[in-house]
Amino acid sequence: MAYDLTVIGTGPGGYVCAIRAAQLGMKVAVVEKDKTFGGTCLNVGCIPSKALLHASELFEEAGHKFGGMGIKVPAPKLDLPAMMKFKDEGVAGNVNGVAFLLKKNKIDAFIGHGRITAPGKIEVTVADGKSQTVETKNIVIATGSDVARLKGIEIDEKRIVSSTGALALDKVPAKLLVVGAGVIGLELGSVWRRLGAQVTVVEFLDRILPGMDAEVGKQFQRILQKQGMTFKLSSRVTAIDLSGKTLKASVEPAAGGAAETIEADVALVAIGRVPYTEGLGLTELGVAMERGRVTVDAHYATNVAGIYAIGDVIAGPMLAHKAEDEGVAVAEIIAGQAGHVNYDAIPNVIYTYPEVATVGKTEEELKSAGVAYTAGKFPFTANGRAKVNQTTDGFVKILADAKTDRVLGVHIVGREAGEMIHEACVLIEFGGSAEDLARTCHAHPTRSEAIKEAALAVGKRAIHM
Ligand code: FAD
Ligand code: NAI
Repeated sequence: MAYDLTVIGTGPGGYVCAIRAAQLGMKVAVVEKDKTFGGTCLNVGCIPSKALLHASELFEEAGHKFGGMGIKVPAPKLDLPAMMKFKDEGVAGNVNGVAFLLKKNKIDAFIGHGRITAPGKIEVTVADGKSQTVETKNIVIATGSDVARLKGIEIDEKRIVSSTGALALDKVPAKLLVVGAGVIGLELGSVWRRLGAQVTVVEFLDRILPGMDAEVGKQFQRILQKQGMTFKLSSRVTAIDLSGKTLKASVEPAAGGAAETIEADVALVAIGRVPYTEGLGLTELGVAMERGRVTVDAHYATNVAGIYAIGDVIAGPMLAHKAEDEGVAVAEIIAGQAGHVNYDAIPNVIYTYPEVATVGKTEEELKSAGVAYTAGKFPFTANGRAKVNQTTDGFVKILADAKTDRVLGVHIVGREAGEMIHEACVLIEFGGSAEDLARTCHAHPTRSEAIKEAALAVGKRAIHM
C-alpha cells in the first residue's frame, strides 16, 4: 500500500511531523532503526539529561541550601543506581508516550534501518538482514545527528565518553575532564560536579558558549567557577593516554606551544554534533548536501522531488523544538498549506543552575549587522522574589531597536530562565516593543518582573534599580 508520507526517524522532528501529517488527513508511516521511538532527544539527550540535572540540583540543594532555610536534614547520601533508575523511568515514560501518540494517530511504524532506493521507495532492513520496501508519495528525512569525534581519541563510552556515556556512568568520577564548553559540557559537567566530581572544562575558544551573547557567557562562567568548575580556555586536548589507572590528557594552547597534562578518571568529549545520514542512500540518489547536512530550500524540499528534510540533519540550531516546528511546517507544506518557522524567535535554554535562556539577536550580532540598539538590563539581586529566596544569580538583558523600540533579543541568566523566556518569544513573534513589555502587568512577586524591569530599563526608567 502506498503512503502519502513516510518519515525516516522518530526524533522530535520526525514523530511530530508524522502526527501533524496524520491530523491533516494523510496516510502516514514512520521508519525507525532504534528499539524505541523519540530519537536522540528522548532516549539519550534532552529528557535523560534533564532528569539528572533535576535530581542532582536537588541533591546539591539538600546538602548546601536547606540548612539556611531552616530545614535540618542529615547530609544527603547519593544512591547513584536509584538516580539512574529515576532517569530511566522518565525516559521510558516519554518514549512510550510517543508510541501511544503514533498509534492514536493511526501511523504505521516500520522498525529497521531505512534507505531511500528511489524517490517514493524506502527499503527497510531489520537486524536479521531481511528487508521490505515501503512505497510512499513523499519522504521526510528526519535522521538527526550524531556525536562529533576528536581525531585520534576514541570514545569507548566508559572512560572516554560522549554525552550518551556521561548520562549512564556507574560511579561518580573523582576527576572529570570535559572537552568543549558548549551546552552538553556545561549541563553534564554540572551534573557530575554536583554529585562530587572535580570538573575541568577545556575549551578551544577564548570564551564559553560561543554563539551566545558574550556578556551572558562571561557572567555565566564566573557563576560556574564560583560553584567549583575549572575552565581552561583557548586550549585543546590533543591526545589522551589510557595506559595508566587515570587518563592523562595532553592539553595544548590553541595558538600552539608546550602541552600540559591533565589527569582525569573520565573524559567527556562534547565538541558538537554532526548530521547523521549514514546508509540513507543520499549520495546514490544525488541529494545535495553541504558539510554533511542535507540541503533544503525554504520549504524543506531537497533537490530531488518528493524528498524533504528537517531537524538536526539540515542547517540551523540543533534543538528539539526547532526540529518539531520544522516537522509541523513541512507536513503543512506537503498538505498544500503555508507551513513556516520563524528562525528569529527560537529560544535556546541551558538547564543548569542558574539557567541560561535566550531568544533573538546577541549584542555581537547586532553590532556586526550595524543595527543601532538600546540595551536594558536588570539584575536578579534587585528582584524581590529572587532576594527573598536567595536565588539572586544572574540578570535579564533586553536589546531593542534604537529607532523603533522593537525587541530584537532577550537574554536571561537566572533560576527558571527557561520558563521565563517564552513571554519574550511571544513578544518577538508578534513584533512587539520594549514599551509593550514594560506596560504589560507582571504578577508580584515573580522572577518575571525582572523582564518587565529590563524592558523599562531600555527606556531608562526601571523602578527598582
Ligand atoms: P534525532 O532526535 O536525532 O532523531 C533521529 C532519529 O532517526 C533517531 O531515532 C535515529 O535512530 C533515526 N534514524 C537515523 N537514521 C535512520 C535510518 N536510516 N533509518 C531509520 N531510522 C533512522 N535539544 C533541546 O532542544 N533541548 C535540550 O535540552 C537538549 N538536550 C540535549 C542533550 C543531549 C545530551 C543531546 C545529545 C542533545 C540534546 N538536545 C537538546 C538536542 C536534541 O536532542 C536534538 O536537537 C533533537 O533530538 C533533534 O531531533 P531530530 O528529530 O532532528 O533527530
Ligand atoms: P556545542 O556546539 O554547544 O559546544 C561545543 C564546544 O566545544 C564549543 O564551545 C566549541 O568551541 C568547543 N570545541 C570544539 N572543538 C574543540 C576542541 N577540539 N577542543 C576543545 N573545545 C572544542 O556542542 P555540544 O555541547 O556538544 O552540544 C551539541 C548540540 O546539542 C548543541 O548544538 C546543542 O544545540 C544541542 N544540545 C542542546 C541542549 C539544550 O538545548 N539545553 C543541551 C545539550 C545539547
